[in-house]
Amino acid sequence: MVARASLMEIQSRLTVFFLVVIASCIQLCTSFGQINPLVYDEQLLWVSGGAGEVSTYRIPLLSFTPKGSLLAFAEARKMSASDVGAKFLAIRRSTDRGTTWSPTYFIVDDGSLVDGLNLGSVVVDEEIGSVILIYSLCFHQYQCEPASVMLVESFDDGVTWSHPRNLSVQLGVKNFAPGPGFGIQKHYPPAKGRLVVCGHGTLEGNGVFCILSDDHGRSWKNGAALKSIPYNQPKQALDFNPDECQLVEMEDGSIVINVRNQNNYHCRCRMVTRSLDGGETLPLEHLVFDTTLIDPVVAAGMLQKEGVMYFINPANNSQRVNLTLRWSLTNGTSWEKNSVQIWAGPSGYSSMTSFAHGGAEDRKYIFVIYEKGHKDYDETISFAKIHLYGGLF
Ligand SMILES: *[C@@H]1O[C@H](CO)[C@@H](O)[C@H](O)[C@H]1NC(C)=O
Ligand SMILES: *[C@@H]1O[C@H](CO)[C@@H](O)[C@H](O)[C@H]1NC(C)=O
Ligand SMILES: *[C@@H]1O[C@H](CO)[C@@H](O)[C@H](O)[C@H]1NC(C)=O
Ligand SMILES: *[C@@H]1O[C@H](CO)[C@@H](O)[C@H](O)[C@H]1NC(C)=O
Repeated sequence: MVARASLMEIQSRLTVFFLVVIASCIQLCTSFGQINPLVYDEQLLWVSGGAGEVSTYRIPLLSFTPKGSLLAFAEARKMSASDVGAKFLAIRRSTDRGTTWSPTYFIVDDGSLVDGLNLGSVVVDEEIGSVILIYSLCFHQYQCEPASVMLVESFDDGVTWSHPRNLSVQLGVKNFAPGPGFGIQKHYPPAKGRLVVCGHGTLEGNGVFCILSDDHGRSWKNGAALKSIPYNQPKQALDFNPDECQLVEMEDGSIVINVRNQNNYHCRCRMVTRSLDGGETLPLEHLVFDTTLIDPVVAAGMLQKEGVMYFINPANNSQRVNLTLRWSLTNGTSWEKNSVQIWAGPSGYSSMTSFAHGGAEDRKYIFVIYEKGHKDYDETISFAKIHLYGGLF
């Protein structure tokens, strides 16, 4: 009896001991100083120039879904690698956090349009469990007019999709190319619950423009604008020309937008702008140039997760090579010295996502999708699962 009692006692002491170890490890090991991203798994989702009706896959987007799936999207350009031309909107879906993926399915087919669809922003409405995808048609107005902003949505986690709806009816006719990347649903005031999607205009009438919905994507209105200078006029080298962008919400409810600096105004680096009113305005006094984030003029990815900001782009001031992940513990005002090279070779557009409300497992990972090649960046579209803590835990 005595021996047995003490054994139980030892067992329960051991249990308490291990619980304390585990608890302090969760605290310590996942504390910000320990972030040490590692490419944990990588696979090609699309290969250009392959079989079938598609010439080139480009402009990858990635999103979590309300029920815990991952959705990868891309333009499947039918005839050539050109931005104009007819396309399918391609999608693959993973229900196991990116380990396996469904075959490709096409959710929009623009037929044989000379200036077809262009992606695009994906935005999840967690309040009603929908996934919305917004894209443009005839954006370049190449042998067509006018440009239109289109929306498709899914209420079953990306399996089936609605017919396209024309948002230009509500927004007015203008050239607006969302993203490319993701839009957000505001989690904090002001305008909690609002959907915010930002993108850019034509090269002449360019700038960052946001569209807003306060009724889960039913109706949309025009929000903030940060216009190029000179606006609606031909540009010269080094003019102020904000272009493709990615936004995130910060914990104070502000929106930070990281922007492609089309004409290398002020630096060969990213512009960063900020909205304090839920995407209604982008005051000039909040515009900064982030000289750490050198950029070859490209669409880049950004993500805010548990107080850490992540940024990914081809980190080179002239070539689309050297896809690099950086992170900031100061809300993007400075970047950690260390960075992680995801791919040394040609790399283009990229986007990131993660699961915000999952368990301990979901705290460890972010997911990246990017254009990757050996000679040219548009050869493949690759998915990478990044372990934030060096593969430990
Ligand atoms: C979308 O709506 C606008 C405004 O009514 C219209 O001019 C445009 O032709 C429509 N686009 C498509 C593809 O139906
Ligand atoms: C890749 O990025 C890193 C980090 O910014 C930089 O040190 C390195 O010079 C870059 N390499 C190339 C080839 O651009
Ligand atoms: C940019 O990449 C090229 C090779 O593609 C390299 O020669 C150059 O040093 C890189 N620039 C920087 C700033 O790293
Ligand atoms: C980052 O912003 C949050 C509010 O969004 C604030 O509480 C925190 O102190 C900021 N961190 C730094 C290092 O500035």
